[in-house]
Amino acid sequence: MQSLKHLLIESIKEKGRITFAEFMQTALYHPEYGYYNSKREQVGKQGDYYTGPTVYRIFGELLARQLEEMWRLMEKEPFAVVEIGANKGWLCCDIIQYIMNAYPEFYNKFHYIIVESNPYAREKQRLLLESIEVADEKVSWHTYTEDGFSFDKIHGCFLSNEFVDALPVHRLKLENKVLKEIYVGYNGKKFCEIDDDVSLPALHCYLETNNINLDEGQVCEINLGAADWLKHVSEKLDKGFMITIDYGDTRDRLYHENMREGTLRCYHSHTVNRDYYERPGEQDITAHVDFSNLINAGRSVQLEETGFIQQAHFLIALGILERFQETKYNTDTTLKLKNLLHPEAMGEIFKVLIQHKNIKNPQLTGLRPLQSVIMSTR
Ligand SMILES: C[S@@+](CC[C@H](N)C(=O)[O-])C[C@H]1O[C@@H](n2cnc3c(N)ncnc32)[C@H](O)[C@@H]1O
Repeated sequence: MQSLKHLLIESIKEKGRITFAEFMQTALYHPEYGYYNSKREQVGKQGDYYTGPTVYRIFGELLARQLEEMWRLMEKEPFAVVEIGANKGWLCCDIIQYIMNAYPEFYNKFHYIIVESNPYAREKQRLLLESIEVADEKVSWHTYTEDGFSFDKIHGCFLSNEFVDALPVHRLKLENKVLKEIYVGYNGKKFCEIDDDVSLPALHCYLETNNINLDEGQVCEINLGAADWLKHVSEKLDKGFMITIDYGDTRDRLYHENMREGTLRCYHSHTVNRDYYERPGEQDITAHVDFSNLINAGRSVQLEETGFIQQAHFLIALGILERFQETKYNTDTTLKLKNLLHPEAMGEIFKVLIQHKNIKNPQLTGLRPLQSVIMSTR
């Protein structure tokens, strides 16, 4: 996309260099040309990558079960689900449809808030919801900006699938025992990397307070936006839960010396690459999520950890295995379900973090030990 490349070059010429976070922010979220604001398909067959909800309807069904249990734990009060980064809207559609059919009492008390910045995706969501005949008052659309969310406080659950990994990251590197930041420059022909002093004290702070010690030459990514996001979630969550599903890990694994090159990746036409500066605006850029940061930063804004587990565990605990036993599922569907659970596919790389606020020691089915699941399916 020529215009976006031009804009980035102009910005670099003006400032001398920009942080990788600024490059990523522009490449993904420029209001006109950013990857996530464009008309092109991002997710699904015509897009650049698949996500769980776009392929597996059961994903939404199982989440609906978990949400219904949360609603019961909250004494059946009016309950809002806030999904941030809904993209095509498959997940919200599957969740709402399941609740409509399986839990009419919950449906009466339920409202779904979609927070999606891409105008083309919002249009797709509307069409999809029309097709399942959801009453207009059941769904509303809101925004999330650096000032926070555009709705009032809620009781209910915030939900995101693959949202945090798409927030801009800074890139840091240990060079001759000194911490450096990797900036983006332009050498007259192409984008290039410039190592220089770290741009923000908050980045030093992130490494120090979290006891992250990089190895010589090791590169890592720091997502400062995730903590802001948690703060804004907590501002609006009067009482309830937050479910974050994404690929990532705990800090000890993510910043381990074996991860020398970090986890930054690009997705384009269902292939993965590390050409971060190619095709700005036409490919996804993403980094694994530091779940330890979400847990610790959450605690500081009253979001307590309810549980942190692998996606496979979560789905099994909520009953995905029973689906294998249902005859209406053919071989193709069974293979798809296996993909959700398989350790080398989505099962172990993807994690589920649930946090809660103003609820005492909630016990959730999705977090129960697998031993109890095995016993109950016998
Ligand atoms: C990786 S996609 C998520 C895909 C989707 N959840 C799924 O499972 O198929 C990230 C989504 O977050 C949206 N997004 C990013 N920043 C946002 C913001 N500040 N407000 C609302 N949506 C945002 C993007 O437009 C995009 O649709």
